Amino acid sequence: MRVITSAHGFSDALEAERAVGRRVGLVPTMGALHAGHRSLVTRAAAECDVVAVTVFVNPLQFDKADDLARYPRDLDGDVLQAAEAGATIVFAPPVHEMYPGFPAPVATSVHVEAVGDVLEGASRPGHFDGVATVVAKLCSLAGRSRVYFGEKDFQQLAVVRRMATDLSLPVDIVACPTVREDDGLALSSRNVRLGPPDRAAAVALSRALDAGAALVEVGQRDPALVGAAMEAVLQATDGVSPDYAVAVDAATLASPAVLAGAVRLLVAATVGPVRLIDNVGLVVVGADELHSPTATSAVGVS
Ligand code: PAF
Repeated sequence: MRVITSAHGFSDALEAERAVGRRVGLVPTMGALHAGHRSLVTRAAAECDVVAVTVFVNPLQFDKADDLARYPRDLDGDVLQAAEAGATIVFAPPVHEMYPGFPAPVATSVHVEAVGDVLEGASRPGHFDGVATVVAKLCSLAGRSRVYFGEKDFQQLAVVRRMATDLSLPVDIVACPTVREDDGLALSSRNVRLGPPDRAAAVALSRALDAGAALVEVGQRDPALVGAAMEAVLQATDGVSPDYAVAVDAATLASPAVLAGAVRLLVAATVGPVRLIDNVGLVVVGADELHSPTATSAVGVS
């Protein structure tokens, strides 16, 4: 395993791999790796000849200083997990390597309109500018590669896809299914901050999505009613403060008049000290038909 801390060192290392004909896979992370990240690395290792994991807690995407300060950090553990899952390069730059003038504001940043402005973008102003900016920088350092993202952060995936297309980045964005605990809780680095009662309450997010999906499955096509059903599940759970619960078009994240085609149900809530998000995909094929976009569930849990 090579741990690289300089931006040019990272760029040169991947260029050298491509020069001898190897296909490069990139897994951008903020560290605190868990089984969800490992599944991205495993998939990248199955599809590419060399896999690089980036570990960088990106200050630009945090709207609260204490959230940034409390973000879990364990580079040694991350390197171990990345290696076990099949990566051979970890890029772990210090902040000045990515943002030379930090903490001065960056002069050049990326804003992805519309898809980045709603939901998480509305609740956390500037968050997706930070994500899009750092991912654009990482992709530009990495060069031609396949870049793996989890569907757990579905809006982030949509923002990054749009950004990569609009900026003609030389990358293929690969979406990977959400990894869940047995009770349905989506894996997240934030889950370590849930105490036992909050951990029990947190399952309300996936239960809300199940309730929304079940409603669509029996023919409900009104996004407001599906959203309200999901919100009711969140509201009914002690210790959970809902932020949003919506049924939207999967490509634009806009609310359609009637649910049709590729639909995404998304929820966000604060559980104890932690803000959590989750989502599920559905494909509504006809007036009454509902097809799963993945083979994992009849209601399209992904
Ligand atoms: O999903 C994350 O861990 C981060 O948002 C990412 C994509 C690594 C950018 O900092």
